[in-house]
Amino acid sequence: MNILVTGGAGYIGSHVVEELQKSGFTPIVYDNFSTGHEAAVPDEVQLVEGDIHDVRFAKHIMEQFKIDAVIHFAASSLVGESMTDPAKYYFNNVEGSLHLLEAMRGAGVDRMVFSSTAAVYGEPEAVPITEDSRLAPTNVYGRTKLAIEGMLADYDHAYDMRYVALRYFNAAGASPTRDIGEDHSPESHLIPLILKTAQGVRKQVSIFGTDYPTADGTCVRDYIHVCDLAKAHVLALKHLLSGGSSRVYNLGSENGFSVRQMIDSAKKVTGVDFPVVEEERRAGDPAVLIASSAKIREELGWEPQHSSVDEVISTAWKWHKGHPHGYCG
Ligand code: UFG
Repeated sequence: MNILVTGGAGYIGSHVVEELQKSGFTPIVYDNFSTGHEAAVPDEVQLVEGDIHDVRFAKHIMEQFKIDAVIHFAASSLVGESMTDPAKYYFNNVEGSLHLLEAMRGAGVDRMVFSSTAAVYGEPEAVPITEDSRLAPTNVYGRTKLAIEGMLADYDHAYDMRYVALRYFNAAGASPTRDIGEDHSPESHLIPLILKTAQGVRKQVSIFGTDYPTADGTCVRDYIHVCDLAKAHVLALKHLLSGGSSRVYNLGSENGFSVRQMIDSAKKVTGVDFPVVEEERRAGDPAVLIASSAKIREELGWEPQHSSVDEVISTAWKWHKGHPHGYCG
């Protein structure tokens, strides 16, 4: 079966492409390379340079490749940037998704797996966070993803467009089998920043806030290995292709680790005692985000297998060591 992967040259998209191939699907990557990397797409995978805003072209590609379903990653995803440039996020994420849905409707493609985020919850009332928790995003990025989830529910209701929205917690790690990894520009994520420091590409790691109401005063997050995320996308796809109804699922490891714990683990895995400085809190960071992933475990049989902190950091470290400047070198 042919699966269009928008944003398939990005971090999570490229790992899902690998998993689709392993599972016998044929991925077709659709990416405008605004943040994706051509080197992240294997030679044997069909790569189409295109924009989700281009409804006619996207529809044409879906018809040409007889697409059975879409996995939609293409989006802007930097929380901080979303606050200073909301127009970019409403345009790329909300309007872009609307255009993609219209292309799908035009081409008669009626199944989508959607890349959503734990940012739709905002500051949680309780942890672990279940899918029926309060939806109160504290940043524009989360608001755009929530708006798209609403759009999908409406398209399902009115046009029978079935979807699975996957709300990721902190995606991390890299493929142990393929030369792909996490490379954002600018980089704002904790693990790549730590590993760039361990390599000497950056001078020090900043801890944003040491006065949170957590055991060691630093923020706690749920780090989920990108290969475990990838497996969940294939399960979601199979669910839809076998006639399953629309669903929303959290994807997390259900374990929380503080910023200090991640730094200590990275020092152990890399063997490098890099400099760390304590700084003020970063605006908009909730103290603790931990998922309940019980729903997708029970309904689709998903089981994370690679999300121990050591495996997350060691697979990311292997990629970073080979790519000190990301895909550019
Ligand atoms: N942090 C630091 N120093 C840094 C970078 C990050 O202390 O240099 C801290 C942050 O304050 C936060 C934790 O490390 O407490 C993780 O930060 P990340 O930027 O790696 O990830 P976030 O938890 O902020 O965000 C991630 C995704 C978002 C998604 C969110 C959902 O990047 O896209 O999870 O929970 F919306």
